[in-house]
Amino acid sequence: MQLLSNQSLRAFNTFGIDCVARHFAEFNTEEDLTSLLDTPEVKKNKRLILGGGSNLLFTQPFDGVVLKNNLQGIELIEEDNDHYYVRAQAGENWHSFVMHCIDRNYAGVENLSLIPGCVGASPMQNIGAYGVEIKDVFHRLEAIHIEDKHKHTFELAECSFGYRESIFKNKEKNNWVITNVTFKLDKRARLKTGYGAIEEELDKMHLDQITIKDVSKAVIQIRSSKLPDPKILGNAGSFFKNPVVPIDVYQSIQKEWPTAPAYPISEHEVKVPAGWLIEQAGWKGKKRITHGVHDKQALVLVNFGDARGQEILQLSTDIIADIQSKFNITLEREVNIY
Ligand code: EPU
Repeated sequence: MQLLSNQSLRAFNTFGIDCVARHFAEFNTEEDLTSLLDTPEVKKNKRLILGGGSNLLFTQPFDGVVLKNNLQGIELIEEDNDHYYVRAQAGENWHSFVMHCIDRNYAGVENLSLIPGCVGASPMQNIGAYGVEIKDVFHRLEAIHIEDKHKHTFELAECSFGYRESIFKNKEKNNWVITNVTFKLDKRARLKTGYGAIEEELDKMHLDQITIKDVSKAVIQIRSSKLPDPKILGNAGSFFKNPVVPIDVYQSIQKEWPTAPAYPISEHEVKVPAGWLIEQAGWKGKKRITHGVHDKQALVLVNFGDARGQEILQLSTDIIADIQSKFNITLEREVNIY
């Protein structure tokens, strides 16, 4: 544990944006973390707790302290007839955690294979894919308060999980360092293969019996075919949320595009895939020299090498304005802007 000054964050964000933090430290234990929270640099400055850096865009130098969470360890802490309770430390890589579960037949997170980032960030935005969200497998988490360092256990009901939302993005934003998360996983798998593309992939495998490993393989196959690998092409996954719109807004889109996709939310609202809207508006695959819109999934913005955060932010602003004028829908960014 060492406080560094003027550290480049390029290796610590999946967009690969070159940005400097005034102060930077990594912590490997909770004791290291609490000592860091006592330093004048941390007390006096704004702070950013960093996990995998996979859901943020730096648009300017970070004039504060960045604390990188490296807490490691996964343990089975309890089991009952139906469940395994598995505690993972916040700095564990998310996909490695999923693989750990699949190898031991702990079911429930297989649809969340290959999501970039780390365990500690997963509840922040209630990560989700292919019909499963963290809230479906979440048991509880432990966190340390940044100001007074007391420890608190957040139970499921306290986290206010919603679509890409939690209390940690809202009311409790920047107040806590999540140190570990306990997941409630199934002993008998309840496979969720209803998502069209998963069925298709599984069919291609010609299996007699489907296991969680097969579902994971199908998800990995789908994700790798559409979503860029951040090690090769900088990105932060979905840049926007899928907007929930009144049914009449959707019906007016349907007049021009009768097959426009949408998922029912309530009697009056539907969720429209932002990727579809962005593609219809002509942005898919658009390049602006250093950055652009991914050619296989329009919801993802990419850095071709030397993009500045401001440029990517501007691209997202232009897309938002265009979708507003073409569809009368306001897109919201999913990625956190710093
Ligand atoms: N679509 C297009 N053009 C595109 C992209 C999508 O027409 O360029 C259409 C697809 O054809 C499909 C619909 O939009 O009809 C949905 O597309 P997809 O299944 O690829 O999912 P998504 O709604 O674009 C969401 C999540 C992803 C998650 C997938 C699968 C959000 C913001 N994104 O994307 O999450 O992997 O569903 O469950 O909810 C992430 O959060 O970083 C992320 C990748």
